[in-house]
Formats: sequence, C-alpha cells, structure tokens
Amino acid sequence: RQKVIIDCDPGIDDSLALMLALTSPELEVVGITTVSGNVPSDMGAKNALKILNHLDRLDIPVYQGVATPLKRDYVDAMDTHGEDGLGESYLPEVSGVPIHDNAIEFINQTLADNPNLTIIALGPLTNIALAHQALPDVWNNCTRFVSMGGNFKSFGNCSPVAEYNYWCDPDAANYVYQNLPVKIEMIGLDVTRKIVLTPNILELIHQVNPEQADFIQKITRFYFDFHWKYEKIIGCVINDPLAVTYTIFPELCTGFDSHTEIETKGISIGQSVVDEMNFWHKPVNSHILTEVDTLRFMQIFLQRTCSIDSE
Ligand code: BDR
Ligand code: CA
Repeated sequence: RQKVIIDCDPGIDDSLALMLALTSPELEVVGITTVSGNVPSDMGAKNALKILNHLDRLDIPVYQGVATPLKRDYVDAMDTHGEDGLGESYLPEVSGVPIHDNAIEFINQTLADNPNLTIIALGPLTNIALAHQALPDVWNNCTRFVSMGGNFKSFGNCSPVAEYNYWCDPDAANYVYQNLPVKIEMIGLDVTRKIVLTPNILELIHQVNPEQADFIQKITRFYFDFHWKYEKIIGCVINDPLAVTYTIFPELCTGFDSHTEIETKGISIGQSVVDEMNFWHKPVNSHILTEVDTLRFMQIFLQRTCSIDSE
C-alpha cells in the first residue's frame, strides 16, 4: 500500500476525496493536514473529523495547518461550500478526538521517516511551501506530488484565468512549482470540469445504497444549487476526488510534461502558465493532465464510496 498524506481544505469535494481515499485499498492514509482554503484551516480540521467519523476512521490523525496565505489576504470559498464548509449540512461536531496543531512538522517528519511518500494536495499550497522552506532535504523522499489546482486551456473559476487553489495562495503555488524536487502532477480544471456528479447518479446511489446517498446528498445539495445558479450546470463538479483516483490509476488521465509557473501579481494573479511549447527552455517541473476517462472515474468512485458495482 502506498503511504500518502492528504493536505486539504474540506470542503465538499475534499470530503468526497477523503471518502474515496479511505475506501481505497491501494492507499495508506497516514494523516490528513488542513490548510486555509474553502474554509479556515481550523474549520477544515473539524470537518475532516466529521468525515472520518462518518467512515468510522477516527484512527487517522488530523493536523491543522497555517491560517493564512504566504503574502495575500485570505479569501475563503464559503459561497461555494456553505458557511460550515460542508454544504450547510451541519453534521455533528466530533468531540473527544484531538486535532493536532503542527501540520508542517508532521509533513516533514513523515517525509523524513518514509523514503517513498506520496502527497496529494487538494487545497492551496501554503502548508507545502512552508514545509519545504523549513526542511528542503526531506523532500527528496516525496516520490509523487499530485496537486488539484490550476488550469491549462480551461477558463478560471475565480477569475477569468485562475483556479481557486492557486489563486488563493499564488506565492505558495509558484514556490512549490519552482522548488519541489519532484514533478508536480497537475490535476487542473481541464480534467476536473469533466467530473460531474449529476442528479441521475445520486438517484442511482439512492437505489443501491440509500444511507450513503443521504449523506452525499446532504453535503452536496448546496453545491448543486451553486452550480445551477452560477454555471447553469445540473449537478456539481467534484474536482478533488479525481486527484485521488488519478494517484491510484495514473492511466485514467493523459497529459504532457512542461515547465509551469504561477503568476503572483496583477490581473492574472493565480494563473498557471504552462509552457507547453517550451518557449522558455526551462526545466520540466510539472506533468499537466488534459484528458480523463470520466466513465471509468465514476465507476471507481461509486464502487468504492457507495459499494456500487457497475463493471
Ligand atoms: C478547488 O477549489 C476548491 O473550491 C475545491 O475544493 C477544489 O479543491 C477547485 O478549484
Ligand atoms: Ca479542495
């Protein structure tokens, strides 16, 4: 089993990603770290516990990370995820389980102890940048780094050109792309926009697994409304679970290697600038995913999170 840390900002789609990771036998989730993104990192940590509680996996430690981006003022995404970050489902708070307060130390210690660690980042890259700044050498043990964020040809989701995770902390994102000793595997909006949880799929889940359907419906209802209101999509785009599925099944997505930088200022702030044509002659630092087998993704997602076999 591949050891992984999931750094996230739960968050509706982060929660679905955690559900998928924790029902995937290929992964050993050694810890969950939270960063301020969709919601502040302390609320994200409490939400992570709520999801672990639902899965009966409170044995997995949760570490709260930094509260604000490196330089920019923090802007949450509660308009998308609800005032509780979980679609205003108001799931019961989990008590009696500690939330550890040193995400950055945990990430670096886990790297130091494991020569082959995968990190899946589902939120802004603030914790990751600070962890690398604190102890760069241990990052040679990070053998895969998968980041949900950015966009190549797809338009932005919080500015004309920028995706939320990179826009929220562009300085951290650019630092990570320029400094990590491992290629950043970018699961951006080009691929995640194709992953839509529709009312029909929810209906299918209802018929086979009503209890899980109720839970998923509770946390996605707000997200469905948001997508209808702003994008006229019937359903909701679930970005983060694709990063987890792709980590396990890299053949699910195709793409290309490139040098990539993240803009840190001006009207394009947060944009991922991908030098596909190699104009800059700079070293490859990323693998940009552009195509995805959506049907296969949904089969894997439903099979693992809802015990629905459709193959
Ligand atoms: C990303 O931003 C967040 O709102 C989602 O959780 C996802 O990680 C999509 O742009
Ligand atoms: Ca997220």
